[in-house]
Amino acid sequence: MSEIVHPTTNPSPMPSATHSSGGSSGANWKMSADGRIYHNVESSAYILPQDEEEQDRLNSQHFAAKALSNGNMLASVVEALPQEAKILDIGCGSGSWVMDVAIDNPCTHITGIDIADIFPAIIRPKNADFKLVNVLDGLPFPDATFDFVHMRLLIVAFRINEWDKVIDEIYRVLKPGGLIQLVESQYTDTEQSPKIHRFVSALLSLMADKHQDPLIGSKLEGKVIAHGFELMQKERIRIPFSNPQNAVYAELLWGWGNAMKALKQALAPRLCPDNESDYDQILNEYLKDCADFGWVVYIWSVAGRKPLTV
Ligand SMILES: C[S@@+](CC[C@H](N)C(=O)[O-])C[C@H]1O[C@@H](n2cnc3c(N)ncnc32)[C@H](O)[C@@H]1O
Repeated sequence: MSEIVHPTTNPSPMPSATHSSGGSSGANWKMSADGRIYHNVESSAYILPQDEEEQDRLNSQHFAAKALSNGNMLASVVEALPQEAKILDIGCGSGSWVMDVAIDNPCTHITGIDIADIFPAIIRPKNADFKLVNVLDGLPFPDATFDFVHMRLLIVAFRINEWDKVIDEIYRVLKPGGLIQLVESQYTDTEQSPKIHRFVSALLSLMADKHQDPLIGSKLEGKVIAHGFELMQKERIRIPFSNPQNAVYAELLWGWGNAMKALKQALAPRLCPDNESDYDQILNEYLKDCADFGWVVYIWSVAGRKPLTV
């Protein structure tokens, strides 16, 4: 069995990939049989890839999420954010939120961190930088460093028992009076379409095996309060994929389909164990039913403030 691993930088996706295995080589990435690149950090439960195709998906998802939310931050955060704020984005992915916010707010300084080096290496606004960090090892910043910490769509990154550790770290690195904004999904199930139900059941069983929480979005408010923040604002956006003529929903459905394509190796054994090549057809039928019958995802955004005196 051959293995392709590299300790530092992602390669461009290759058209005909060799098989790889995770192993314990200590390398930062591994390549699947279909040429997708995944992280190789054994302590992490994160299941999506970290290659150029994933960067494209994250960029598309960023602009769709921004359009749906009418901006990059909740109104209460915009109002309270100091002009020269020091900002941290955890799990920044391709860095689109970081760069967008940096350009809109030139007096701020924004640091994006991610377990994968899929953020821009050279070309970026002067007031933005990026670091390779596994947040589960703790945040490599002193106490009270930031005015605002943002974290979006880490639903398939953390195990249920890891969320509290990460939010504790966010609290620690925020200045007194500092702001937090968490944005996460809540997946739903439906019996209306057997194809949707079957596909979603496979996804939920994968997440259960990884100890991840498909309902985390709906739990953010409770977590923010339990960790000592003062709740400032919460928002729930309903995304009905049954409305493909809406350009934003259509973009999100494309991105969702792309993410589910990337999970083929994990989902095919659950959906079509006898013939894993049936996966593409099962995925296409599921996506068609999402558009025809409707499958709903909720996106929750919650903002809070660290008390001035603790
Ligand atoms: C679905 S993407 C979301 C990216 C970005 N927040 C956005 O909204 O566009 C999740 C990101 O979290 C990163 N990630 C996963 N586990 C992580 C960890 N333990 N520490 C830091 N980043 C992590 C992934 O590499 C990926 O870029």
